[in-house]
Amino acid sequence: MESLVDKNALVMMGGGIAAYKAVLLVRELQRRGAKVRVAMSPSATKFVGTVTLAGLTGEPVATNLWDEAYPGEMHVELAAWADVIVVAPATMNLMARAAAGFADDVVLATLACRRCPAIMAPAMHTAMWQRASTQRNVRALTDEGITIVGPERGALANGEVGEGRMAEPEAIADAVLSCFLPSDYLGKYVVVSAGPTHEDIDPVRFIGNRSSGRMGFALARAARLRGAKVTLVAGPTHLRADPRIDRVDVRSAIDMHEAMRVAVGGDHQPDLVIMAAAVADYRPETRSPQKRKKQVGSTALPLVRNPDILQDLGISRAGKRPVLVGFALETENLIGSARTKLRLKKVDLIVANLAADALGSEENDAVLVSIADEVPLGRLSKTELAHRILDQALLRLIS
Ligand code: C5P
Repeated sequence: MESLVDKNALVMMGGGIAAYKAVLLVRELQRRGAKVRVAMSPSATKFVGTVTLAGLTGEPVATNLWDEAYPGEMHVELAAWADVIVVAPATMNLMARAAAGFADDVVLATLACRRCPAIMAPAMHTAMWQRASTQRNVRALTDEGITIVGPERGALANGEVGEGRMAEPEAIADAVLSCFLPSDYLGKYVVVSAGPTHEDIDPVRFIGNRSSGRMGFALARAARLRGAKVTLVAGPTHLRADPRIDRVDVRSAIDMHEAMRVAVGGDHQPDLVIMAAAVADYRPETRSPQKRKKQVGSTALPLVRNPDILQDLGISRAGKRPVLVGFALETENLIGSARTKLRLKKVDLIVANLAADALGSEENDAVLVSIADEVPLGRLSKTELAHRILDQALLRLIS
């Protein structure tokens, strides 16, 4: 589902220094399976050579509407070929001309001719971005159905720091991906927990588990790509999340409990909560302020129970909202244990999976268990599994 195979992506560059990043965007779109062609405004060719982009795409680069060697109507054919158009970088000038309906170079004429989704990634100096005329043009382009991605705050070409940096190629490629995914989570608020928890023994040691966080991160990302507002409560992991996801980093089960309570108890009530985190059931009774010394012979570490976050959410919810999804990671009796959790924790859906299939892997083999039925999903990438879980949760959200 998160692939651009069989999709034609037309990357159109305006004349800005960020054109060098648009070269990486071409690469990123190709990496995700898209067939890419490139058009450049005359000024864009001053920043990046056409030879580079022709070499990367294996296609001639369109730069001149008046190219006599070109047999047809360049802008009409390019627009008809594209399944999605990405204008990156979109300069102040390009955006103003597009908003006003100009069509006097290959980029503007092709954009005017489009019938497919279009994305613009603005890149300009902060003062230019903040100019009232630019903001007016952003609104006009948005009203025309163009998706604006970025710009971001950060270092600009001249060394200043401010808003105006072009969004990173991965973020633009994600926006491209969203064009081909259902927007069925638009207007929904989803809270996801992910990763392990670390229960401190002393300042140096902790009790942890082998959860990588990949499943929860895949769920958060899939929900975001399908239009949801997402909060991701993440235990310790090195994974990176989409900057458009509101991420709360936590360490222990107690921290995670608190963060989930804040997320669920705020003014904006979530529609769906998915507990994909591998929460430690126990924590050391006391956290030693100093590093514990070695002992002669064996030793014991008293443990106390952690709160069950999911059960707490299940028991305290009034009515059917938020829809609650939990995981059951087992080494045996998969379905039986999932059914017990469904009842005890009062949740709508349990994703039941075997530890040998799930832990640390890119793939998983899961069964979705609800009171009414069991849906085996077979071996899938965690990305695909995330989308299937969201499909099932959505059925409950709209019922
Ligand atoms: O009972 P068990 O740990 O197998 O249940 C797993 C499910 O419950 C997962 O969704 C996990 O995130 C959640 N859980 C929790 N708080 C705990 C333990 C598990 O929310 N203390």
